[in-house]
Amino acid sequence: MTQCYLNGEFLALDQAKISVLDRGFLLGDGVYEVIPAYHGKLFRLQDHLKRLQNSLHGIRLKNPLSTEQWSDVLQKLVNQNNPEEDQSVYLQVTRGVAKRDHAFPENTAATVFAMSNPIKYPTPDVIQNGVAAITLQDNRWLRCHIKAIALLPNVLLRQQAVDEGVDEAILLRDGLVTEGAASNVFVVKNNTICTPPQSPDLLPGITRDVVLELARSNDLYIHECPISEAELITADEIWLSSSTKEVLAVTELNKKKVGDGKPGAVWKTISSLYKAYKEKL
Ligand code: PDD
Repeated sequence: MTQCYLNGEFLALDQAKISVLDRGFLLGDGVYEVIPAYHGKLFRLQDHLKRLQNSLHGIRLKNPLSTEQWSDVLQKLVNQNNPEEDQSVYLQVTRGVAKRDHAFPENTAATVFAMSNPIKYPTPDVIQNGVAAITLQDNRWLRCHIKAIALLPNVLLRQQAVDEGVDEAILLRDGLVTEGAASNVFVVKNNTICTPPQSPDLLPGITRDVVLELARSNDLYIHECPISEAELITADEIWLSSSTKEVLAVTELNKKKVGDGKPGAVWKTISSLYKAYKEKL
């Protein structure tokens, strides 16, 4: 049985229990992170912990653990769950257990939970052929840079995509691309890569950072710039990035081919750079 961590203890996942009064359960009052671990090594751990700190700051919750404590807990968890296999570590912090009331409780300890599971990578077929997406209106709140556990809008948007037989929803706010329901978005036009700039409208993805770094250090043209709906629809290539999917090509958008309907040349370059970068670690 998978081992998990709950409030200072390591235990089997099916033994971990929290109160029904937990504010994460009742109010979605908490934040989370998803961190890959390749061959037992947590990927960009410091960046994920920094983003966690920003999310906690965004919801006015004190970080219950120091950076060293987080590193220790998460590494132990990976080691206990077959480190040979690539893992995806999920952690969540909620405002703890208290009588239900919207306003913050006083002197309540945060609930800290973490688990580690094998990463379910897209199949080689999906990687080689790309995925399909639809565009939907981004009806989420105005603080999407906070990695909040309250994901109901993202859940409904992703399910709408699934109901329409596609893999992801690419979201538009005021005519501009923000991100995917659970990914960041890149487009390529005439060999120039573009991704929306960081703002409260989107999550500052760690994979997005890696793509920006790899592109810049390999002399690819990459910019952080607003992407209009028209630019998305006429792009030569569209990519999605996330910790669990890495960089995936979107080859069909709103039932129409993107480019020639196959992952493009620039995607091939970035995808092999990503692979080489991972192998070097
Ligand atoms: N989600 N935007 C949203 C809304 C996301 O949920 C995610 C990732 C990303 C990509 O961020 P990163 O590159 O740091 O994984 C962007 C994770 C994987 C999840 O919720 O499971």
